[in-house]
Amino acid sequence: MEEKQHYSPGLDGVIAAETHISYLDTQFSQILIRGYDLIDLSKTKSYLELVHLLLEGRLPEESETETLERKINSASSLPADHLRLLELLPEHTHPMDSLRTGLSALAGYDRQIDDRSPSANKERAYQLLGKMPALTAASYRIINKKEPILPLQTLSYSANFLYMMTGKLPSSLEEQIFDRSLVLYSEHEMPNSTFAARVIASTHSDLYGALTGAVASLKGNLHGGANEAVMYMLLDAKTPSEFEQLLQTKLKRKEKIMGFGHRVYMKKMDPRALIMKEALQQLCDKAGDYRLYEMCEAGERLMEKEKGLYPNLDYYAAPVYWMLGIPIPLYTPVFFSARTSGLCAHVIEQHSNNRLFRPRVSYMGPRHQAES
Ligand SMILES: CC(C)(COP(=O)(O)OP(=O)(O)OC[C@H]1O[C@@H](n2cnc3c(N)ncnc32)[C@H](O)[C@@H]1OP(=O)(O)O)[C@@H](O)C(=O)NCCC(=O)NCCS
Repeated sequence: MEEKQHYSPGLDGVIAAETHISYLDTQFSQILIRGYDLIDLSKTKSYLELVHLLLEGRLPEESETETLERKINSASSLPADHLRLLELLPEHTHPMDSLRTGLSALAGYDRQIDDRSPSANKERAYQLLGKMPALTAASYRIINKKEPILPLQTLSYSANFLYMMTGKLPSSLEEQIFDRSLVLYSEHEMPNSTFAARVIASTHSDLYGALTGAVASLKGNLHGGANEAVMYMLLDAKTPSEFEQLLQTKLKRKEKIMGFGHRVYMKKMDPRALIMKEALQQLCDKAGDYRLYEMCEAGERLMEKEKGLYPNLDYYAAPVYWMLGIPIPLYTPVFFSARTSGLCAHVIEQHSNNRLFRPRVSYMGPRHQAES
């Protein structure tokens, strides 16, 4: 008789990898990124500095940030025939599907695709990070029969990203808040999409393949798709009390409320959510309109009272993205775009210290059935 091994549904609590990249330290309520607290980083560092930290393993000197910015900006255009591929997709295609297709197709333009060395993958990651804003924006605009907006070399990475999605030059507050959201979304230990990317990379598959699998994972509303779902839910109500009623009705129907709960934080607030809540308040101050903030707070209070659940990052990122004028179907692609940096770091780490993922099952089916 074989020994029965412990089975944890959803691999809950299972250690799937050893990593030097990040860790959700629930004991100290900290998200560690290469040893630094992500919340502290989000207050002082830009997204590109985070990119450097994730891919090079250390924070950059000022001159290194400038070099990185130049490198990433010079990779910001997509090949022209690549965009034609997106034009062929049906108009109801979700931008996450369009992004997945576009990202997958970039593999064909890489002549050194079989070189999986850390230095080749790092260079590939920088090239990809340069293209992600254009690919993300195009994944929505092309499907909606709008001309893609070309990046402006005079703008920062985040300002350009916003500009290509909205067609408007952002204010410095908008640029700063959007950049902060990218920092918060950049890396988060071992969510489903990172696991998916590492599983794919463990077969010696390439970076594009690993990230394409991660897009599919991140699309689901139990993961990245939650930010878009939160916004549709907020738009279904006009006042805080209407929003409370809407949530009560969903809870009575035993529906999951998008933007609440987390496998690791469980019954604690996701510390990233608090930073986006502050950003929402800043944007409401600027607009002189507190409706969304008040609705979100009412929802937060109700969920704590009824379920003992707290907001995750998606709950407050959604209204922030709304106030920044980003089209709702782009909320999840933006999350993915920001997460590209963390995902690339994980693929490089997996390739550098690889063991093929190949788990076993607990077989529950019949044995030795006689053929009739
Ligand atoms: C994130 C999430 C998938 C984590 O799920 P999980 O670790 O598998 O936890 P479970 O789904 O088993 O939930 C445990 C309990 O809390 C409840 N719960 C968890 N999240 C809930 C939510 N958002 N709304 C209502 N109830 C929720 C479950 O119904 C379950 O209750 P029960 O034990 O009475 O059946 C889950 O909280 C969720 O679906 N949240 C909404 C989607 C979301 O915001 N995703 C983004 C995550 S960053």
